[in-house]
Amino acid sequence: MASHLSDVWFSVTDLQVVSGKGSWVTTADGGEYLDFAAGIAVNSTGHCHPHVVAAIQRQAERFIHAQVNVYRHDLLEPLAARLAELTPDGIERFFYANSGAEITEAAIKLAKQATKRPNVIVFSGSFHGRTHLTMAMTTSKAGYRAGHAPVPSGIFVAPFPDPLAPDQDAGVDHALRGLDHLLASQTAPAETAAMIIEPVLGEGGYVPAPERFIQGIAERCAAHNILFVADEVQTGFGRTGEMFAVAHAGVEPDVLCMAKGIASGFPFSALGARAEVMARWPKGSHGGTYGGNPIGCAAALASIDVIAAPGFLDNVRARGQQLVAGLTKLTASDSRVHQVRGVGLMVATEFADAAVVEAVRVHCLEHGKLVLMNAGTYGTVLRWMPPLVVDEHEISLALDAFADALQSV
Ligand SMILES: Cc1ncc(COP(=O)(O)O)c(C=O)c1O
Repeated sequence: MASHLSDVWFSVTDLQVVSGKGSWVTTADGGEYLDFAAGIAVNSTGHCHPHVVAAIQRQAERFIHAQVNVYRHDLLEPLAARLAELTPDGIERFFYANSGAEITEAAIKLAKQATKRPNVIVFSGSFHGRTHLTMAMTTSKAGYRAGHAPVPSGIFVAPFPDPLAPDQDAGVDHALRGLDHLLASQTAPAETAAMIIEPVLGEGGYVPAPERFIQGIAERCAAHNILFVADEVQTGFGRTGEMFAVAHAGVEPDVLCMAKGIASGFPFSALGARAEVMARWPKGSHGGTYGGNPIGCAAALASIDVIAAPGFLDNVRARGQQLVAGLTKLTASDSRVHQVRGVGLMVATEFADAAVVEAVRVHCLEHGKLVLMNAGTYGTVLRWMPPLVVDEHEISLALDAFADALQSV
């Protein structure tokens, strides 16, 4: 039958799925697959967590849409209060939207309004979304921009330390010198509204930003009244074993972008900022029809109940360690693999060759019933982003599938 769907979506698998539960999805022909793509690091509470499902069902009977400019429904403030508790100190006021790109774009609109400055600095390997502005802020792969010029101006790209460099400390110094040079040569501090960074590059290849690098960026922002924006769309809500990944570096952002794991897959995103920064966003200068959708708020509150429950982050850390240890052991004497790295359940195996990544990924899918995705500018990274509720046995199953693939390709 001819498809009526657009061909613009690339496909990682051709699986036709009908349902999901925990770390597993079921296909139309009854197959069971271990889902280590997790909706691209979205289904952190697992597929269809009963607490989240019940909250969505309950809310659907009360209100599906109560437009935020017309009404204030009764979950808007409770969610903001909960986010204020969970987010880094100083992040107190919240704006809601529906996707990651919308929220990183909102962060830039806020930064421009709050500072009255025009420019933004991003870091090489970044992925902030696919709208025209966020595409201009995205440097992880040329393909995201190809054919879309012109993209908005005012975006400047600073270096990000190379995770494969033999001397990591020297790499951080070099990248910070590059940032200083950018401020001296292309976008003066007085012209720079914000620096936005993913604490762990996502699409760019699951590369943790070294702590000293993040601290150096935060210091430069503070020195020049530039807003320090953390894009925690992918790293937030426990993915790295901390509620938010900036905690690893001990820095406090001025603005925080959240999406993906926030609502277990219901389209929802949030922007947090210091109260004094949010107060400088002129009323009516930004908005959207669906932001703060009541079902989204219910899904977010229920997801947060699960993620903030005692022991949840311990599982993320323990399963992350199990995965990194297993991958390290399996690849120790395999010259095709350059590096195993990760923080929490944001784990990468970096290969020398993208063709090998693809062969391993396809073998895992076809023989191990394990769904994985790649990442990185050159497609040389196999990334591991299971639901955060993944258990020890499921990690073992995934490692077995990978071991088998490494033997076979
Ligand atoms: C760090 C980061 N920011 C922004 C986005 C864009 O989010 P969305 O695809 O929901 O627009 C992504 C998506 O992968 C992301 O990983």
